Amino acid sequence: MTDAADLVAVEAFASPEIAEKLTQFQEKFPKTALPSHQPPLLEAKNLSFSYQVGKPILQALDFTIHQGEMISLVGHNGAGKSTLSHLITGFLTPTSGKLLWQGTDMGNDSIKERAQKIGYVLQNSNQMLSKNFLFDEVALGLRNRNVPEAEITEKVHQTLKICGLYPFRSWPLSALSHGQKRRAAIAAILVLDPELILLDEPTAGQDYRHYTEMMQFLQELNQRGLTIVMITHDMHLMLEYTQRTIVLTQGTILLDAPPEVVLADKQVVSAANLKETSLYTLATLNQLTDPAAFTAAFIASEKEGYDGE
Ligand SMILES: Nc1ncnc2c1ncn2[C@@H]1O[C@H](COP(=O)(O)OP(=O)(O)OP(=O)(O)O)[C@@H](O)[C@H]1O
Ligand SMILES: [Mg+2]
Repeated sequence: MTDAADLVAVEAFASPEIAEKLTQFQEKFPKTALPSHQPPLLEAKNLSFSYQVGKPILQALDFTIHQGEMISLVGHNGAGKSTLSHLITGFLTPTSGKLLWQGTDMGNDSIKERAQKIGYVLQNSNQMLSKNFLFDEVALGLRNRNVPEAEITEKVHQTLKICGLYPFRSWPLSALSHGQKRRAAIAAILVLDPELILLDEPTAGQDYRHYTEMMQFLQELNQRGLTIVMITHDMHLMLEYTQRTIVLTQGTILLDAPPEVVLADKQVVSAANLKETSLYTLATLNQLTDPAAFTAAFIASEKEGYDGE
């Protein structure tokens, strides 16, 4: 059954016998309940933004991100996801409405102040790397904050260990692989000890192995208490790794729900321009009553396999 993840021509696998087997399989993995919510960390209240007068980009957004959540932010190209990131980091200022951090208006907080709580990893994180050596790259933010050098060394080493980069601490960045550079960009943010990290397409352009490594790494960080928001176009990432999905279309929130609910709504999937997974296609072709639940069951089975290792 695990081979199903690698199906290429999934269309060949539709028959009443297969449908029955898939249904039996699904029943073995009932849905687990969502964890109860922690206090709000970041809230948007009636948040609107336009680059030009009369051309609204984000319109009256309301959402809450709770401490410890791992959330996906999805939506078609141009929906306003990056614009929303820039409002959160303070690069842009809302036209109206506000953002609250632990219940307090962030409106007057500078980019620098926000960066102490909220780490932001750009889609093309290579753009964020400016130093020749890994150590210096990760130390940069602390040096800018005039942290004593001994403390910097300790923090950088600790962060490099968490990120699996410690063996490369004295390497030049140019000697690192694409995936390692991406982790270096994340390490440079993590070393500043943010409470929330916002990643734009963390796995874009990576093969399955690097994708899995990156996502397991982020999941570990989340289990250590870091709140994570990921912008993605990938339904598999959203379903396997996030507990809630905020769907942004044309600058408004179309749906804010668990990922399997998002997946089950064909209109939403199409409006957000999400990439369907082959598991979902397999379930649909076999006319399973709840293709999203099937996909979720499959992912739960894979996770159980993991724990068993
Ligand atoms: N600097 C700018 N000036 C004017 N309009 C802009 C600017 N930056 C983005 N836009 C417009 O704002 C809208 C939202 O863009 P944004 O980059 O936030 O979308 P996105 O959801 O991040 O898209 P993608 O998935 O392609 O990254 C788009 O219509 C875009 O053309
Ligand atoms: Mg974008």
